[in-house]
Amino acid sequence: MNTQLSKSVTWVGYVDWAVRDFHGYRTPRGSTYNAYLVAGAHPALIDTVKAPYVDSLLAHVRERLPLEQIAYLVCNHAEPDHAGGLAQVVAACPNATVICNKKCADALRHHFDTSTWKMRLVTDGETLDLGGCTLQFFDTPMVHWPESMATYLIEEQVLFSMDAFGQHCAGPWRFDDEAPMDVVMAEAKTYYANIVMPYGRPVAAVLERLGALPLQIVAPSHGVIWRSHFAQILEAYQAWVVCRPARKVVILFSTMWDSTRAMAQAMAEGVEETAADLRLLDLDAVHDTEVAAEVLDCACLAVGSPTLNQGIMPRLASTLTYLRGLKPVGKAGIVFGSYGWAARGVDEMTHYLQTMQITSLGEAVTCRFRPDAAMLEKCRETGRVLARYALTK
Ligand code: FEO
Repeated sequence: MNTQLSKSVTWVGYVDWAVRDFHGYRTPRGSTYNAYLVAGAHPALIDTVKAPYVDSLLAHVRERLPLEQIAYLVCNHAEPDHAGGLAQVVAACPNATVICNKKCADALRHHFDTSTWKMRLVTDGETLDLGGCTLQFFDTPMVHWPESMATYLIEEQVLFSMDAFGQHCAGPWRFDDEAPMDVVMAEAKTYYANIVMPYGRPVAAVLERLGALPLQIVAPSHGVIWRSHFAQILEAYQAWVVCRPARKVVILFSTMWDSTRAMAQAMAEGVEETAADLRLLDLDAVHDTEVAAEVLDCACLAVGSPTLNQGIMPRLASTLTYLRGLKPVGKAGIVFGSYGWAARGVDEMTHYLQTMQITSLGEAVTCRFRPDAAMLEKCRETGRVLARYALTK
């Protein structure tokens, strides 16, 4: 496996083939926790890995130099997938000083006993001379936590971009030009939707600032390292930070006795009469991770549930709570569902859409018990309305 990024930089991270759940995010292809060793008279390790995989990280480092030679441990981000192993690494590298910003130091103090650590706090734009290599640090707040930071190796134009441009994708490859790009881009989109989407505005600011640097290599903390196709992921990010809509309708539903399913399917038929793209997402079959990725670039969505206990199906409530936290912007929508005695579910769904600032495309479509032919035609027409809106994008 080729792990050499540039003259002075080596990948020393961990490929996690087994992880399938990342704090609720389904990761069918696993992930990687990328850490990087930067050579110099005073070598630096950029980030660590999840705590259980520190032995692998340290073995990779030892293949290149004794741990006593590590002068700096750069912590770009305090989240445990990158800093979880930091206490063990500090203990194993007796001559190392931890480099991080003030907010990160505060977070680390709440994860570990840092009272005996050698620490140096750096500020935005500050540089660190490794003796032959120079690191520069850039605060990247909210990408993906408030303390997040990117590190730039000036001489070799390598940007350690932390979570930005990452993907949860294990593989035998380390570089974009070694990996199947359709898989990488799909996973990058899913990663953006589920991790980074709430922070579109700060991400856009980071893109503008860091994108202006001369870049030979962009090395994120998960997935492939960008050395040949960075323009492709940068262009994709420019669309994702504004949730730029495709001509796509998402119909998202949960059903109890199949009436709401019949309504959803009739809406889908209405969309299918047009040139608009369509995703019909039954929450009995589709995970929230996939829902988020589809909502990221949809133009509009229909959200459906029967009324259950004067509310909505718990499965849909869970998904809408998750989506609300991810803050997709610029979407339009409509709600629908069957009911038996009182059409209360649509009120709850409408409230969700309002709090997500989703523009209403019309009145809720409700059906008592089972949809008859007239109701199914009304649902088809709703599908056409959604499609016509999507085709304006
Ligand atoms: Fe990959 Fe925000 O940690």
